[in-house]
Amino acid sequence: MTEQEIYKGLAGVPVDYSAISKVNPETNSLLYRGYPVQELAAQKSFEEVALLLWGGELPSESELADLVAQERAGRALADNVRAVIDALPKSAHPMDVVRTAVSIIGANDPDAEDPSADAELAKAKALFAALPAIVAYDQRRRHGLELVEPRDDLDYSQNFLWMTFGEEAAPEVVDAFRVSMVLYAEHSFNASTFTARVITSTTADLYSAVVGAVGALKGALHGGANEAVMHTFDEIGEAANVEAWLDDALASKKKIMGFGHRVYKNGDSRVPTMHAALERLVEHYDRPDLLELAEALEKSFGERKGIKPNLDYPAGPAYHLMGFDTQTFTPIFAAARITGWTAHIMEQAAANSLIRPLAVYNGVDERHLDG
Ligand code: CMC
Repeated sequence: MTEQEIYKGLAGVPVDYSAISKVNPETNSLLYRGYPVQELAAQKSFEEVALLLWGGELPSESELADLVAQERAGRALADNVRAVIDALPKSAHPMDVVRTAVSIIGANDPDAEDPSADAELAKAKALFAALPAIVAYDQRRRHGLELVEPRDDLDYSQNFLWMTFGEEAAPEVVDAFRVSMVLYAEHSFNASTFTARVITSTTADLYSAVVGAVGALKGALHGGANEAVMHTFDEIGEAANVEAWLDDALASKKKIMGFGHRVYKNGDSRVPTMHAALERLVEHYDRPDLLELAEALEKSFGERKGIKPNLDYPAGPAYHLMGFDTQTFTPIFAAARITGWTAHIMEQAAANSLIRPLAVYNGVDERHLDG
């Protein structure tokens, strides 16, 4: 019998067309709807990038103004979303809180089952507006702090930081946060986006697809890596300890979080932009020790294994410097990726085919019950 070929982890297998983003590991580039992500991160707001991902083009002034108004109007937490968050133990992982909150928002929406393009876009915008409030409030309640009401005079990034910390963030901090949101917004058929597409392919509603995507993002091999990077830094402590820590980690065949990528084998195209943002934050907060540690680990691991950092590597310490709890890092990633997820959900629905691969059976041969 000839062995049937399998594609473990679907590595290298194209499964559909997508016009949303192009990852090109050869040229180390990532394009959102044709635009290099570095250019978008340098010049565009996260709100503009969201509209680009959803609609295919950068928005006109009035289209942007509409989204800004919708986002500002959708920032408050619904009473039952807040009540459910309050009912969850503080020990629950913040990604579990996001997952649960998205479920409640879906159950609240009378149009949840409406598959029309307008209704789908409205749901995407509603989640885009609601996620910062969920993430911010969840971090606050863990510290015994009250909810901070959103402020209409602040843009998305300013308001996210305001609702989390209850004070206006410095412009450098807001900008680094915005850059991270743009870089995290979209990345083709990554595990969480693909999960959302699988769920959508069954014709389940958008909220179900997003709940599944949040679950996929939580894992440390995917979005959970930004949290895991910070745990690594905490474990290492300071740059001087990197070599000894790495000796032990490699001897025990540990995966070093924030390094490696399924598609990019020669470096993640988003890293230089986020690294530059991290450098600005390090200067702002006067924490050169953190950059020294990050650079020492990157250098030593690179020299020993030739494996390069991915976006989660500079993003983790950047969020730490801003004051986010380590467990809040992946929920921030979810708040950014909601744009990419929902763009893919709409693209999948518009040209749907049930996603249902095959398995090559390797269990026991057919057998029968006695009698
Ligand atoms: N630490 C140690 N070794 C690694 C790492 C790492 N971070 N990444 C890859 N390798 C090694 C791996 O052990 C394997 O070695 P060998 O051939 O000797 O067995 C080789 O490199 C190929 O790795 P792989 O795991 O087969 O490659 P993959 O394409 O399946 O994995 C990955 C990609 C992201 C799962 C992996 O690099 C990894 O586990 N990285 C750490 C977690 C992480 O940072 N995830 C974030 C991914 S990117 C952004 C995001 O989605 O959030």
